[in-house]
Amino acid sequence: MKHRAGTDKSLTSTWARQTQMVRAGSMRSNFDEMGEALFLTSAFAYENAEEAEARFDGRKEGFTYSRQTNPTVAMFESRMALLEGADVGRATGTGMAAMTAALLCYLRSGDHIIGARAAFGSCRWLMDELLPRYGIETTVVDGTSLDAWKAAIRPNTRMFFMETPANPTLDLVDIQAVADMAHAVGAKLVVDNVFATPVLQLPMAHGADIVCYSTTKHIDGQGRCLGGIVLCDKEFDEKHLYPFYRHTGCAMSPFNAWVMLKGLETMGIRVNAMCDNADKLAAAVAERLEDVRHPSLARFKQPELAAKQMSRGGTMVIFCLPGGRDQAFKFLNALQIVDISNNLGDSRSIATHCWSTTHKALSEEARLEVGVTPGLIRFSVGLEDGDDLVKDVMQALDAAGV
Ligand SMILES: Cc1ncc(COP(=O)(O)O)c(C=O)c1O
Repeated sequence: MKHRAGTDKSLTSTWARQTQMVRAGSMRSNFDEMGEALFLTSAFAYENAEEAEARFDGRKEGFTYSRQTNPTVAMFESRMALLEGADVGRATGTGMAAMTAALLCYLRSGDHIIGARAAFGSCRWLMDELLPRYGIETTVVDGTSLDAWKAAIRPNTRMFFMETPANPTLDLVDIQAVADMAHAVGAKLVVDNVFATPVLQLPMAHGADIVCYSTTKHIDGQGRCLGGIVLCDKEFDEKHLYPFYRHTGCAMSPFNAWVMLKGLETMGIRVNAMCDNADKLAAAVAERLEDVRHPSLARFKQPELAAKQMSRGGTMVIFCLPGGRDQAFKFLNALQIVDISNNLGDSRSIATHCWSTTHKALSEEARLEVGVTPGLIRFSVGLEDGDDLVKDVMQALDAAGV
């Protein structure tokens, strides 16, 4: 690689975030390409056997095999690390691969983890089903209650795991308070920052040790590729994450990393425009329904915490139809612009009935306990014209008899 301006941290760390999103991490090959090159290669060749040995020993810098590192993936990882304020990023094939790697690379049989109970269905499955199979004890708590986190601490607690805002309830967890609690007992705090995005919230600035994303969401943001990333400090990476990552093979494909790099260039602009639409939609729906959740609304339950750790309310609006599943289905089936789907963070608005789809892996009791009710609609606000979105939702509410 020839031109490394994008990887010179002393320069890139002085750039504004928007410039970082467009340029940080870029490397240029001998062909002087403008766009980042897509290195669609599984392995790399060596000048001679000595060079191969030196690269494997780590005595000589360079790539060896794309399960470990690849130039296109490395560009994406270093752009994300800079944006997040992390030393290192390891990009994975999906968001769930990132969450799984972040937890399993560190926890051992006999350890204990505390997780917030309001979480994406598969993250709950990791805590409820997977970790206990390997002798890792888990406790799920109401993440909004600091007393509940504290009461769950045991002598063998090694990790705390949370999503804030949570999918789909938008419950917020005080990152700094939980980080302080974790650090007081020598444990690590892992934050799934998917709903907030790095545009609106930086968990490491509030004490988080490890931040994970499904890059499938706002980072790609155009519904094309799956991906994930784990961000952490150098020590955690060297001792725990990288050995797990390279030997278990959860790497992101170079093609997906190339798409994610393109996504990052527009992420700040997209997320802010989606937030404008979300503010507008939340205000309009709040005139029709009682249970509407978005941090921009005066009725939002945790306004101080939202203001403390998020710069804006986010792109997700949650509302509950009083008539339960039947009314929710009528509403969804009447939408004319908005799609019924289970992704989020896309430029196209998406409405999801979490009860029957994304959170169905949880028992009925567990869904009700975290607030995923049969009437709940998770609305991922896209980039369409805001007035069109409001009109579409209003006519669908009419059709559902709200
Ligand atoms: C909060 C949250 N975490 C993790 C994931 C998992 O991401 P992926 O689908 O890319 O595996 C999702 C996906 O919906 C999510 O919403």
